[in-house]
Amino acid sequence: MTYNTRTFDHWIRTRFVELNSALEKLYMAQDDRANVEAIGEELKQQLENEGREIISTLLSEGNTDEGFDHAFDLLGNVGLYMAACRRHEITEPSRETVSPLTEASGLAMNIGASIGVTPRFATAHLTTHNKALNGTYKRFTNLPAEQLFIDYNTKGILAYKRAADALLKTQSLGISHPITHDLLVVAKQALQDVIDSNAILFEKLDADDFFYCVRPYYKPYRVGLQVYRGANAGDFAGINVIDILLGLCFANEPYYSQMLVDKFLYMMPEDQSILRDCMRRTSIMDDFLEAQLDTEEKWYQTNLAMFLEVCQMHGETAIQHHNQLVEKYIAKPAESLNDSHLDKVTASGPSLAILLNGLEKLRDRRAAVKRCDLRTRFDDIQTLKESLHQTEQRMAHV
Ligand code: HEM
Repeated sequence: MTYNTRTFDHWIRTRFVELNSALEKLYMAQDDRANVEAIGEELKQQLENEGREIISTLLSEGNTDEGFDHAFDLLGNVGLYMAACRRHEITEPSRETVSPLTEASGLAMNIGASIGVTPRFATAHLTTHNKALNGTYKRFTNLPAEQLFIDYNTKGILAYKRAADALLKTQSLGISHPITHDLLVVAKQALQDVIDSNAILFEKLDADDFFYCVRPYYKPYRVGLQVYRGANAGDFAGINVIDILLGLCFANEPYYSQMLVDKFLYMMPEDQSILRDCMRRTSIMDDFLEAQLDTEEKWYQTNLAMFLEVCQMHGETAIQHHNQLVEKYIAKPAESLNDSHLDKVTASGPSLAILLNGLEKLRDRRAAVKRCDLRTRFDDIQTLKESLHQTEQRMAHV
């Protein structure tokens, strides 16, 4: 790390957090908590100027080629600064045609292009790739709601990744291998961990604090000329690896592949290659459907029963995400927002109704719900369930 990079990192971990937290306090004290206009102007100026000053020194220093990890980390710091400027409406993409944060944009684009990721802060910067110093990792504010949100996003993402890793390992063993059963048990447990962790988040996170003080840092912002959508907890390969390998979603279906295309650069390069590889593979569900001559084999009964449990568990994580987290923390609070703020609600940019509709379809694909307007695996799951003997059916709770 160069001296200037270290100075910037220190600023992000200290003064930056102080300024954001002080601004949040001022917004919170208003009747309309969503308003940021004409509040804390001096603090906003300090935030913008202090950040700009350090970033200018980094920009003139140039790309110092200190390896991927440092470059990714520095991009995250620039991104946190740009996202905070967006949150406080120091910048506002609909007001501008180019980001007024010229130096930050230049540095972010230089790094992003050189390491093959989007030139903005991504979920990984705050979750799986966020180094703690003396127990404290990088955050925007010192608000407990933000820490809770990041802690449980990190837990959820890591658990999904554990499930994805186990499923990927089944690929070289095949559905009849005895150890495939062990891997399916690992995947099921990991998905149960997602459910347990999201349940705690749902119970502990205050809806208003999240909606007014945490979520606004995840809005889209402009880097140079282009607006980049906000970060969300789904920006890692594991979730789609699970969808595709279980066979619940189809990588070649336009809606789903559009989602994958849009998220590639928001993921770490290693995740990009995992997902690319996985998009070329057949699913475990198709492998079982093709094995209908083997239904009387012991391996078929044992492994299929566990496979169906994993599918059910994945569906449950999706139902929980949509019906609890999205409903309580986005849809409900948005109902009480006045029209002037409503167009700025989602992280990805589309209107809330479009976003919710898309997430609902994703939930129903993952849960293999019967829908006449959507291709889901409802019928195939029924076929597989019917091929199970009574004892295995009881074990699989089907
Ligand atoms: C307060 C908690 C949360 C809320 C309100 C929430 C809400 C949302 C919303 C609105 C989206 C769509 C992104 C967009 O704006 O375009 C999204 C995406 C996603 N979120 Fe969450 N989320 C929460 C926590 C989590 C956690 C803890 C996980 C677990 C890893 C998670 C996993 C995902 C995934 C995988 C996606 C991508 C879409 C998908 O493939 O389902 N979320 N979330």
